[in-house]
Amino acid sequence: MGQVHVMDHPLIQHKLTYIRDKNTGTKEFRELVDEVAALMAYEITRDLQLEEVMIQTPVTEAKCKVLAGKKIGLVPILRAGLGMIDGILKLIPAAKVGHIGLYRDPVTLQAVEYFNKMPNDVEERDFIVIDPMLATGASASEALKIMKRMGVRSMKMMCLIGCPEGVKRIQEDHPDVDIYVAAVDERLNEKSYIVPGLGDAGDRLFGTK
Ligand code: URA
Repeated sequence: MGQVHVMDHPLIQHKLTYIRDKNTGTKEFRELVDEVAALMAYEITRDLQLEEVMIQTPVTEAKCKVLAGKKIGLVPILRAGLGMIDGILKLIPAAKVGHIGLYRDPVTLQAVEYFNKMPNDVEERDFIVIDPMLATGASASEALKIMKRMGVRSMKMMCLIGCPEGVKRIQEDHPDVDIYVAAVDERLNEKSYIVPGLGDAGDRLFGTK
């Protein structure tokens, strides 16, 4: 079963509180999500492989470490996932970015794909799939399924806030995928919003209602 990693770093938790606050306006919300995404990228990349290289410091020759060059792919689920991309790219600027767009069919309530554009070497990359809110888990699960169908072999799921229902869905549907979140909240309400949550992440990021 996939592990759930709750990133309880004090800076992440502090900023998340202001992200949740309904009095935080669009500009500040966007900035805070960007900052938290960068801090989460720092934690999620903790297991990246290193290799040794010889370099010359001004003083002497030294054996040092650099990233072993495994390629990374980021996949925001449209549209709210976009809000976390720039923050992550600040730390992993060489990552390629694919996009998946999903909407919920009003009749079947299933997630339906409307956009999909990936880098062409998906088999060779470690992917981070990004959606700020892991609510029912339906769209995240569908996105992971689409990625696997395209040949992706390695994925992590990154969300700001999860809930038990969404975590359970991903663990059941994708036991090979670890979940990285800043918090796992109490529950979903009858409208499938996370409680206490932060409201609609897309609307708060882009100033829509
Ligand atoms: N999507 C959101 O933006 N917020 C929620 O609480 C649940 C899903």
